[in-house]
Amino acid sequence: MRQAGRYMAEYRALREKHTLLELCRTPELAVEVTLQPVRALPVDAAILFADILLPLEPMGAPFEFAKGEGPVVHDPVRTPAQIDALRVIEPEEGLGYVLEAIKLLRKELEGRCPLIGFAGAPFTLASYLIEGGKSTHFQRTRTMMYREPAAWNTLMQKLSEVVARFLCAQIDAGAQAVQLFDSWVGSLGPDDYRDYVMPHVASILQRVGAKGVPVIHFGTGTATLLELQREAGGTVLGVDWRTPLDQARARLPGVAVQGNLDPMLLFAPREVLAARVARVVEQAGSAPGHIFNLGHGITPETSVDAVKFVADHVHALTAR
Ligand code: CP3
Repeated sequence: MRQAGRYMAEYRALREKHTLLELCRTPELAVEVTLQPVRALPVDAAILFADILLPLEPMGAPFEFAKGEGPVVHDPVRTPAQIDALRVIEPEEGLGYVLEAIKLLRKELEGRCPLIGFAGAPFTLASYLIEGGKSTHFQRTRTMMYREPAAWNTLMQKLSEVVARFLCAQIDAGAQAVQLFDSWVGSLGPDDYRDYVMPHVASILQRVGAKGVPVIHFGTGTATLLELQREAGGTVLGVDWRTPLDQARARLPGVAVQGNLDPMLLFAPREVLAARVARVVEQAGSAPGHIFNLGHGITPETSVDAVKFVADHVHALTAR
């Protein structure tokens, strides 16, 4: 994830001419950015260039990426009336440009590697809608969850419906796997996850799973949630570096795992990096069902050479 992005000079060059939203909303540019890491690195899959927040605008909650601040939702959703006003859109209505990029990419990638589509999970999306941007404690989100359970449920249902439709439409457009990003769900303990989030995620994963392509269920900081997330569904469960992969494998029979190199290890000397990559591969074990990945996104200061080194080293260690 963040396979494309600011750590690459060719991406920064495009960003000088276009905003992030322009890159996302112009299929030819989204295709170009998706292909940048595929050209530069020996990766085994391409991840569509888009953003989890894109559905918010056609639903009626416009936002922008403010310089140095991350996403800013102009009119945060904080009342039942605002939740009622959110539109449950069809993906073709407001997100057709993403589907178009997928169709173009399948042609470009033919014979090279598969394409992974993605969407945000309802808790993570709700947190941006309610907080209006990034957050540490998710205090307003949690307040709504506990004090206005009916409104919370309506919001989660609306987001889940849009996300399920969007992921199914991405698969219909040609995505060969999809990933559901619940990046901030690790801020919840197991009881709150089970009561306020899990049923919604389960309904998405059930609908999308029926399409027959692998579905990757991703979170971070989820060491105490892994069993519940597995129960919620997905073909593959994302695990971050806080949980060693051998422990994750033992706790998650019957499901594949994705992970889990700490992205900060890309700043370690090569011998340390090599040893830690080898440890991930070793802890994943020899049974099928491991996708090597970072536990979270690549940060802008990361060196492309370090990322390439990791991809090469994983291939050298796992070649059959
Ligand atoms: O290559 C890829 O991984 C595909 C592209 C991708 C982006 N966003 C592009 C992007 C993906 C998979 C995402 C997902 C995404 N977006 C998530 C879930 C994954 C995660 O990191 O947990 C989240 C939470 C978002 C929301 C988002 N988008 C934030 C919080 C930010 C600001 C980050 C920052 O460091 O300022 C973004 C911006 C964003 N989306 C960038 C990229 C490459 C930074 C790019 C830029 O400003 O040019």
